[in-house]
Amino acid sequence: MKIEELVRSYLMHAGISLPEERLKSILLELSLWLKPSLKGEGIVKTEQGDYTLLHPRYGEPYHSLSAGAVRECIEKFLIPSRLLEKAQRLKRIRLLDIGFGLGYNVAIAVKSIRDINPLAQIEVLSFEKELPEEVPPLPEKFRAIHEKIWKNLPCFEDKGMTFRLYLGDARERIREIGDFSAHAVFHDAFSPYKNPEMWSYHFLAQVKRLMNPEGVWVSYSSSLPLRKALRELGFKLSSTSGVGRKRGGTIAYLIGEDALEEREEWKLHTSPYALPFLDPELKREPLDILIDYRVRVELLKMAQGGLEPPTPRFSAGCSTN
Ligand SMILES: C[S@@+](CC[C@H](N)C(=O)[O-])C[C@H]1O[C@@H](n2cnc3c(N)ncnc32)[C@H](O)[C@@H]1O
Repeated sequence: MKIEELVRSYLMHAGISLPEERLKSILLELSLWLKPSLKGEGIVKTEQGDYTLLHPRYGEPYHSLSAGAVRECIEKFLIPSRLLEKAQRLKRIRLLDIGFGLGYNVAIAVKSIRDINPLAQIEVLSFEKELPEEVPPLPEKFRAIHEKIWKNLPCFEDKGMTFRLYLGDARERIREIGDFSAHAVFHDAFSPYKNPEMWSYHFLAQVKRLMNPEGVWVSYSSSLPLRKALRELGFKLSSTSGVGRKRGGTIAYLIGEDALEEREEWKLHTSPYALPFLDPELKREPLDILIDYRVRVELLKMAQGGLEPPTPRFSAGCSTN
């Protein structure tokens, strides 16, 4: 079905009638979100000289082309997660890795923790929907552990390390895990408007369930629906600094104080786009998540503009409580 038909059908089921120009602006924005940011596929060289992959369907690279793959892993994930500080005092370190991809984040984290504390026991749980067919090697320093992980997929136990990859849709697989108590979560799916099922309030609630109270959640994304979902889940938020041409990402923790800049906090309070993606059964089609979100944004824009929004026959979204 074309996007327009899907949006019209959504509005009809929700009992919402919108003026045509509002429908047009919804459709325009949805088509921009869905448009690939890059064309092509396969291995690409980043501006820092290392390599990553382009995903043809999402139209996005697995790592930032301007920041470089290794630098992004270290500066956007490893350092903000405080795993290296924890490695100095903990005997057992647990990492939850959402979006295993090429396995770069995991390999770089494990090698870096090992360098600091060779005796630490490292436990990694990774989630991945589809493994790529070709994987460019990491620079020499990280190559041995990277190759070991790939050779032993989906899981292995070694002196000092256990690794387990859950293949399939992370929304289904994450529910199989009773407890994990992660000290850090690397949340590294494709961008929220391209891969919304990985950034919903309800999926993030599952991730939170597997975190240690002192755990730190990190991602490269600073998008409003993501931050709103984290805030509604009770996380405190701060930003990571920008790497390459990429904007700063988000750090979320359960203990501590909010530390977003005033401007970012203001956006989170006032922007009509600061609404979480909703996926209560954890099985909505990604496009349906986006349509539901964008219609709720439009209703909020109308309310903020002083226009009476049409009352849906049933809640257009659903309660996040
Ligand atoms: C940006 S890449 C991850 C890069 C990876 N962290 C690395 O360091 O190489 C995003 C990954 O999320 C995966 N992904 C997207 N949707 C998913 C889903 N519903 N369940 C599990 N994995 C998913 C993609 O297949 C892709 O490999």
